[in-house]
Amino acid sequence: MAILVTGGAGYIGSHTVVALKEAGYDVVVVDNFCNSSVEVLSSLEKLLGGDVPFYKVDIRDKEELKKVFLNHEIESVVHFAALKSVGESIEKPELYIDNNVGGTKILLEVMEESGVGNIVFSSSCTVYGQPEIIPVDESAPILPAESPYGETKQQCEKLISAHVINNKGAAASLLRYFNPIGAHPSSLIGESPKGVPNNLVPFLCQAVAGLRGALVVFGDDYPTEDGSCIRDYLHVCDLAEAHVAALKVQKPGSCEAFNLGTGRGSSVLELIAEFEKATGEKVPYKIGPRREGDIIEIFAEPAKAENTLGWKARRSMGDALRDAWNWAKAN
Ligand code: NAD
Ligand code: UFG
Repeated sequence: MAILVTGGAGYIGSHTVVALKEAGYDVVVVDNFCNSSVEVLSSLEKLLGGDVPFYKVDIRDKEELKKVFLNHEIESVVHFAALKSVGESIEKPELYIDNNVGGTKILLEVMEESGVGNIVFSSSCTVYGQPEIIPVDESAPILPAESPYGETKQQCEKLISAHVINNKGAAASLLRYFNPIGAHPSSLIGESPKGVPNNLVPFLCQAVAGLRGALVVFGDDYPTEDGSCIRDYLHVCDLAEAHVAALKVQKPGSCEAFNLGTGRGSSVLELIAEFEKATGEKVPYKIGPRREGDIIEIFAEPAKAENTLGWKARRSMGDALRDAWNWAKAN
């Protein structure tokens, strides 16, 4: 029996492949490399000391996906494959609906036809928009999405809960990630976005390495202590381990959402200071205008994940920033 990891060559997927293998699971990876590269697989092999069965398949290609389910006895799916740029989703909403929602729909169809019921899904705290109560727990209302990307996460959550209702014995975990950062401490895998990074830590590392101009802090006039936005940054290796924990506790008929974060909010300026402390490097930055669509402040109430999954983020933000920088230097 094996776990199918869609998007397993990507940032969070590759770290989760490591966590799954370390927990003793057999893993099969499917990815179309639209935002990753084949070298990730050789790095995984180096790290794990053995090969990881892999298929270059777009999950929207039903016939090709079916072959993977025929070739392997799949017990559960961990589903990462999606496009994730909020800005791009505003420019190309159809692409995001087609890839993220269309891909999930096909995946669920193939799972149902193959008799596979269990799925762990990469959702996001964007499903909450700007919540009224912070820290945000899973009972917070799902507000109208602020971007087509966020809407795809809301729609996929709905498709997956329908899958559980319609398929006896099926189970799902909707993992609502806050802000994953960092890299595996081996520096063999990490985050390598194609083109100019949209996210804070990859851009910051490239700015420190001299590959980009100064980091622009998007706004210092928000109603927060230092005026910059607040997020809940968690180490990607902690996040990866949560997927293993979720697989272990799934019960037939259950479809549960979990917030995955540290429970601590940090501002952009605090993160910069922490990076400098953890690495000894100076961050070149300047203050710029607000970025459209940014929420001011969000961080998780992670108690449900701790009580139900027995999972808690253990690594510090300093650990994550040091690992991100070591990965950036090695690459
Ligand atoms: P990533 O882009 O590094 O990984 C996604 C992987 O899926 C890539 O390797 C890409 O090539 C692959 N993929 C995309 N569409 C595909 C398709 N149709 N068929 C096959 N493969 C496909 O992104 P990530 O940061 O690892 O994110 C993984 C998941 O977590 C995504 O669903 C994302 O929306 C979600 N998420 C990410 C964050 C974050 O901050 N990184 C936060 C919340 C949720
Ligand atoms: N930021 C900057 N400068 C930059 C990049 C980001 O100041 O160059 C700031 C943003 O304004 C924000 C914070 O850094 O305040 C974090 O921004 P990211 O782009 O790294 O992350 P977001 O919180 O905007 O969104 C991320 C993912 C989404 C996901 C969401 C919630 O990009 O896909 O976390 O999990 F949905």
